[in-house]
Amino acid sequence: MSNTEELPLHLRGNWTPVQEQRTITDLEVRGTIPAELDGRYVRNGANPVTGFSDHPFLGDGMIHGIRLRDGNAEWYRNRYVQTPFVSNPDKPIIDMAESLTDMASSKANTNVVGHAGQILALEEGHFPYVLDGNLETVGPTDYQGKLSGPFTAHPKVCPTTGEMIAFGYSMMEPYLTYLRVSAGGELVQVENITVGGPTMMHDFNVTENNAVFMDLPAVFDLELAMRGEMPIRWSDDYAARLGVMPRTGTDSDVVWYDIDPCYVFHPMNSYENEDKIIIDVARLDHIWRDGPMDFPEPALHRWTIDTASGKVTDEQIDDLPAEFPRVPEAVVGRKHQFGYMMANAAASAFEEPLSADGAILKYDLDSGARDQIDVGSGRLPGESSFVPKADATSEDDGYLMTYVFDANTDTSEYVIYDAGSMSNEPVATVSLPRVPFGFHGNWVPSSTAD
Ligand SMILES: [Fe+2]
Repeated sequence: MSNTEELPLHLRGNWTPVQEQRTITDLEVRGTIPAELDGRYVRNGANPVTGFSDHPFLGDGMIHGIRLRDGNAEWYRNRYVQTPFVSNPDKPIIDMAESLTDMASSKANTNVVGHAGQILALEEGHFPYVLDGNLETVGPTDYQGKLSGPFTAHPKVCPTTGEMIAFGYSMMEPYLTYLRVSAGGELVQVENITVGGPTMMHDFNVTENNAVFMDLPAVFDLELAMRGEMPIRWSDDYAARLGVMPRTGTDSDVVWYDIDPCYVFHPMNSYENEDKIIIDVARLDHIWRDGPMDFPEPALHRWTIDTASGKVTDEQIDDLPAEFPRVPEAVVGRKHQFGYMMANAAASAFEEPLSADGAILKYDLDSGARDQIDVGSGRLPGESSFVPKADATSEDDGYLMTYVFDANTDTSEYVIYDAGSMSNEPVATVSLPRVPFGFHGNWVPSSTAD
């Protein structure tokens, strides 16, 4: 792989993009793949088709997927999402006239989720891209003409109703739009929401009855956009707030709560407890105050919104740097006991040479205990997805799956761990070519999309 000194850190080491799109069917497996796992583990990431991008968020979406069925790993595939940037690599990325306003001009590089029979590659500034079961691109979707603006990379699928709750943010009014997709895949609600300005809202929260928006001081800057630079910067003048709205509500129903300035890319989960709303988040003190690579270390915090008093408390749960928080899909919006994170996320991944001993963290939010899986020396995991066992008897009775990069061999593995025991010994390991570091992944069971 290339380690040319001139390349920015986000294109070196295991950030180096892969060019070849491969299909491998004779995969080496160690351990036993649970026969109950029928579906695809898919993960998205930025993999610039030209080999170069100005920022780690601006590469072209590439999906790395593995198909499991009957205890076998049937295939591994990596595929570009076929966007206009892949068919035309000279197309400008930050272009007020076109790429920021044409909703099909997505990099489609941030997340990949299953919902209502579809696999969707998502990025937060544009339409979702539909993929088929072999990770080939079908095309962008506007939900039968009902979606006219951006769609988040972090929708939440309600475990009770099957609805996919989402939103979109834009640098132009309306700055925020709430979106609700039915269990059948129909966009049934589109609400413009009033926020303080063009805030970058990467993620949000859903509880049993509410959506909670994070209106935070990372704002769109027209001057940066006109120069073709990453068009978001920190603002010391923009108030940080949380907005609580009933899931079927409208703009006038939103109740806003002031919080201390900070940035949160990713909440772990949120839920209601009588007149309180609990939100666990990977909190950063700020972002992009000193330029577009200014990422302070995130750590796990708990916000408690007291809807009776109107106050929000912020409790730091741990000081260990960690990101990519997840909970089981079955407790999204419900009380969670356990949450999973990736330790030392950004700092370790940008280290050269990579020496980190990566770990998957498990927080017991009831007891405050932290456990971890050590994935080995010189090895780093990505975000982990939790999949319950077929006969699960507790919230943590399931599997954690992710891609692990091994700097010792410059290859990767798809690894399934036991979330209950958090044993360092994998349940199963599938040997793969190098899978570059990426963003978000999910297990998409065949029952959701096939
Ligand atoms: Fe994200």
